[in-house]
Amino acid sequence: MINTIVKGIGMYLPEKILTNDDISEFVNTSHEWIYERTGIRQRHIASEDQMTSDLAHMAALDAIQDANINAADIDLIILATSTPDQVFPSTAVKLQDILNIKRGAAFDIHAVCSGFIYALSTADNFIKSGKYKRILVVGSEVYSRILDWKDRSTCVLFGDASGAFILEGQNKNSITSGIIDSVIRSDGQYRGKLYCDGGPSMKSSTDNFINMDGKEVYKHAVEKQTAIVEELLDSAGVDIDAIDWFVPHQANLRILQTTAKKLKLKEEKIIVTVDKHANTSSASIPVAMATAVKDGKIKRGDMLLLEAFGAGFTWGAVLLRY
Ligand code: UT7
Repeated sequence: MINTIVKGIGMYLPEKILTNDDISEFVNTSHEWIYERTGIRQRHIASEDQMTSDLAHMAALDAIQDANINAADIDLIILATSTPDQVFPSTAVKLQDILNIKRGAAFDIHAVCSGFIYALSTADNFIKSGKYKRILVVGSEVYSRILDWKDRSTCVLFGDASGAFILEGQNKNSITSGIIDSVIRSDGQYRGKLYCDGGPSMKSSTDNFINMDGKEVYKHAVEKQTAIVEELLDSAGVDIDAIDWFVPHQANLRILQTTAKKLKLKEEKIIVTVDKHANTSSASIPVAMATAVKDGKIKRGDMLLLEAFGAGFTWGAVLLRY
């Protein structure tokens, strides 16, 4: 039996910080409104010459160092993004080239804020099937480029970042550590609730910015994340009290707290980093994980519950022993 071990974790946040007060200088908003509704204090913004692949490169190097491997040891790259550098080729093959990896394969996954969970679940299945041994999984986004900076209902919510895991297959008699189980879901009937136009097959579009029905997204995020976690724990035969840390997609503090409460999970078990970088879509879970590991909160052997919800709608969860 092959276990999928998390061998290394890395992250990258661009240097430039935009606080709530900074935004209130050019949009009719305030730190109080943003902080009370979302828990966000600031976000990081990529410099003009930084693309999604550049952020991914930095996070990948951090993860490679943490895993104590060489880039050449990686035989598959799965990169989750909804802000790719180009329509094609994938940002993953660009990263493969930047890392000077000449073998294996690389591809992008597009599941918006659930992208990292989709990528982890896919990578886990590739490792458990024996097809690949060492996989670099990256979530990388430059949302500052798809925000309408005049729309206060969306521009205050997002930021730029990248996070990465190195996963490795290890032979064991049973699944004792690493990814225990994962589940992903989607329901396309809700795709109009949160979207960004501008795809090349769309003949005309009014704008290429994020559009969102915030209240609907909020409601479905809590409902669907609660249900999928219950489903995952049930199928894995794990009690909620066995979870040491809850590492949710960092979109909004109120969504995290409400979901944890519905799951009867103690609030002190939630990893919260949304205050420092806002919603960074597919990058948010690895950034939260890397932060919590570096802070000494999450330790080897801890039982973790990762979960996300995003446009599509897409959602999913991963149970793992770190
Ligand atoms: O990965 C998923 C990504 N998306 C999310 O996580 C978003 C989920 N949704 C939410 O978090 C919340 O719906 C928001 C934080 C986006 C909004 O909170 P809300 O309590 O649903 O506010 P609202 O949209 O109902 O707006 C309330 C008021 C409105 O004014 P009126 O019509 O009552 O006069 C808005 O125009 O707040 C106003 N408003 C703002 N005021 C100051 C909206 N955005 C802002 C703002 N600053 N940035």
